[in-house]
Amino acid sequence: MTTQNTFLAIKPDAFKRGDTAGIVKMLVEKLDAKCVAMKVYKPTEELAKEHYAALSEKPFFPDLIQSFTAGLILGMVWQGEDVVAKARDAMGATDPEAADEGTIRKKFGKHIGDNAIHGSDTEPGSAERELKIHFPEADFTEIADPVAKCTELCQAAV
Ligand code: RTP
Ligand code: MG
Repeated sequence: MTTQNTFLAIKPDAFKRGDTAGIVKMLVEKLDAKCVAMKVYKPTEELAKEHYAALSEKPFFPDLIQSFTAGLILGMVWQGEDVVAKARDAMGATDPEAADEGTIRKKFGKHIGDNAIHGSDTEPGSAERELKIHFPEADFTEIADPVAKCTELCQAAV
């Protein structure tokens, strides 16, 4: 086991609904990991297309880019043992209707195009690629209270 970093983001629809603190609280409870970076920003179309480049040929790609650029997101880096897979488990299935009880997408997702949270997948190199796109500054320091930090950042942003 080695320590990993993963990129997680609360998507614009969930951000707008005010679900950020509730989702971060679930990450704290479920991941047994450190949050080492957190910021609020509105993805540009260029950033969204780079982020989801692997899906560019999918029929839902235009809708995906539209929804990911529709407003502010809360981008985060979480660090810990096996944290990439742990975060995917905590998120639940891509389609909230198929997600297990107790997962973030079951609780906060509405449908497959509005599933509350993004997390790097477990394919080797995937998290590293996304971290370079979203956190090129790579300024990672443990955040003592991620829920409090989230509340502070989100209140300041709206
Ligand atoms: P994400 O990258 O956002 O964490 O989601 P994921 O790994 O669970 O799923 P992925 O296959 O990477 O798809 C990215 C996002 O595209 C939307 N999607 N729509 N209409 C559809 O059939 C469909 N399939 C995927 C979802 O919003 C998904 O999160
Ligand atoms: Mg994905």
